[in-house]
Amino acid sequence: MLTLNENFLHLQANYLFAEIAHRVADFQQRNPDVRLIRLGIGDVTQPLAPAVIEALHRAVDEQASAEGFRGYGPEQGYLFLRQAISDNDYRARGIEVSADEIFINDGAKSDTGNFTDILGRDNTVLVTDPVYPVYVDSNTMFGRSISFAPCTVENGFVPALPGDDAPAPSLIYLCYPNNPTGTTLSACELQRWVDYALAHNSLILYDSAYESYISSPDVPHSIYEIRGARRCTVEFRSFSKTAGFTGLRCGYTVVPTEVEVVSSTGQRVRLANLWRRRQTTKFNGTPYIVQRAAEAVYSPEGREQVRSTIAYYMQNAAIMHRALSELGINVYGGKDAPYLWVPAPAGTDSWGFFNRLLHEAHVVTTPGVGFGPAGEGFIRLTAFGKREDCIEAMSRIARCLKGE
Ligand code: MLT
Repeated sequence: MLTLNENFLHLQANYLFAEIAHRVADFQQRNPDVRLIRLGIGDVTQPLAPAVIEALHRAVDEQASAEGFRGYGPEQGYLFLRQAISDNDYRARGIEVSADEIFINDGAKSDTGNFTDILGRDNTVLVTDPVYPVYVDSNTMFGRSISFAPCTVENGFVPALPGDDAPAPSLIYLCYPNNPTGTTLSACELQRWVDYALAHNSLILYDSAYESYISSPDVPHSIYEIRGARRCTVEFRSFSKTAGFTGLRCGYTVVPTEVEVVSSTGQRVRLANLWRRRQTTKFNGTPYIVQRAAEAVYSPEGREQVRSTIAYYMQNAAIMHRALSELGINVYGGKDAPYLWVPAPAGTDSWGFFNRLLHEAHVVTTPGVGFGPAGEGFIRLTAFGKREDCIEAMSRIARCLKGE
């Protein structure tokens, strides 16, 4: 008899951003003349960098000749891109990550969800709360038990390590700069997590999709800046937010050769080998033209162009932060990350504030509780909008909150 993976029945009916899109579409259908400003899902709005566009054109043209044509590529990604990543994102910062340890993918979302395919179903999972919903949903699909480390105003959004008497989680997800709160951890705070993972044989899955938004000099860009991390951490990065690839799709996963897990028969297994084995079976690689586009992000012009787009978004974040602060709101994030974490007015919950801003200010946000129970009472705003929309959204929110 055909049966289901019934773990899927334990998921919430809709993925968070699908649920929001549904509510927004419903509102728009009933109010077709309203111009909504969308500061909900963290999707970029600026065009791709000219260097990326040129690389795409060149790569497309190559496909027109027998010599330039590419069919199936290496599942792990082309060496030209893995080498560019190793040289620019790691060695340039004094971090040892070799091209062999890098796996190109179609965006960090896929791999943060898929990576645990190679890990046992009975692993326990710790996530911060609030949290990017993919980590929770993808482990729920395996039926894993998940615990939450709250990140609140009271603890400065720094998750506490599990207590001595609590069972140690086998998998720990950390995302810094953080989605959704926009906050960061210092090197000391990250060192505590790495030390904990090493002492308890846990694996850290470190999502640094927003790394390129860091401007504070003391915030670590990679977990591998932290002593011992190469033995216990897998790192995920993305070109989506760094270079506007949300539609193009490209990211990468770093699996250091030192990360090993002991099998039930006592065999030490390198996770990099198992991940390669999984990918060669289930993944046929990111398109060649997309990998050439990603490589162009590291050219001198590409770097400059991408940097200026990031500065544009972070200027949006500063404008929004200032406007909300002037309303007397304590806004978090927005300094080293393109997200602002905004408390709802007293007596209003996340969905209540979301609905009010949708119906009265015509601004789409993300309700904080959608990221976990500790997100209740907040909404998240993205700084990825167009400048004029961000400014207009702040005026609309101000008018709405002042009851004008
Ligand atoms: C978000 O809004 O949290 C992100 O855009 C979602 C994602 O990167 O998949």
